[in-house]
Amino acid sequence: MAIQTPVLRTVGLGKTYTDFWGRPRLAALKDLTVEVRPGEVFGLLGPNGSGKTTTIKLLLGLLRPTSGDAFVFGCDPGDRVVKQRIGYLPEETYLYKFLTADETMSFFGRLFGLDEATIRTRSDTLIRMVGLEHARRRHLGEYSKGMARRLGLAQSLINDPDLVILDEPTSGLDPIGSAEVKDLIVRLKQSGKTVLLCSHLLADVEDVCDRIAILHQGSLLEVGSVDELLRNDDRQVVELRAPDAAVLEAVRSAAGDHLVSVAPPRERLESHFRRIIAAAGSQGTSRS
Ligand SMILES: Nc1ncnc2c1ncn2[C@@H]1O[C@H](COP(=O)(O)OP(=O)(O)OP(=O)(O)O)[C@@H](O)[C@H]1O
Ligand SMILES: [Mg+2]
Repeated sequence: MAIQTPVLRTVGLGKTYTDFWGRPRLAALKDLTVEVRPGEVFGLLGPNGSGKTTTIKLLLGLLRPTSGDAFVFGCDPGDRVVKQRIGYLPEETYLYKFLTADETMSFFGRLFGLDEATIRTRSDTLIRMVGLEHARRRHLGEYSKGMARRLGLAQSLINDPDLVILDEPTSGLDPIGSAEVKDLIVRLKQSGKTVLLCSHLLADVEDVCDRIAILHQGSLLEVGSVDELLRNDDRQVVELRAPDAAVLEAVRSAAGDHLVSVAPPRERLESHFRRIIAAAGSQGTSRS
């Protein structure tokens, strides 16, 4: 198998912020060496202030490293050609509140040098995808936080990027919106895109990421595939369909001392929530 160039690569990457006089103040990132491969959904995790956004800004060429190197598609992050291939959703939504959603998409489309027909087709698809068709002609000043976040996501995809960098994409979204973002990330992956995702919602990260890195105070604690990191080979889960008392008793006695517990599985709150909201929607209650 041919070795593919990593989409993102850092080698001993470090960033120390300096104060007004240029004196080193805080080592926000220390000696980070990781790779993100083509087509992967990669999660960057860590507590507040652990260096996630700093890493993203270094990868986008918005900050210069103090030490080490960052490569995007094998090139310097500041490279113009590289920037054309990246979609970026910043941690804070920065959109012009006197523009409408349509105007915002058109503005960013033109920044990427797209023609009007392409902008229109992509805007239609993306605005529909993030569920904002009903509000596309309203000024963003009237948008709720979640609506603005959705538009930010649509805007980050206007250039049909090969690499999508999402810094806390679900912040401000309700559980349905968060679930939709997760679905969107899965669809981006299916269409061959690479995704770098920062999120504090560990359940979401677990659902969508192939591999993760965990940062703490600027240092890398752990990196690896979600399956490998979370797998517990000391135990096995056996699922039975509609077992009656006799079947359960047979399982108990066959397992003997190996048995840890026998109990019905619990639905996850997210799927429960999605189900009851969907059911309420079909009975005439709709979200706006
Ligand atoms: N422009 C800056 N000047 C000085 N220090 C900064 C600057 N930006 C970030 N820092 C510091 O660098 C450290 C890492 O910040 P960063 O924003 O990368 O963290 P994060 O992991 O994204 O956190 P969060 O989960 O809160 O978004 C923090 O201690 C922060 O205070
Ligand atoms: Mg951050």
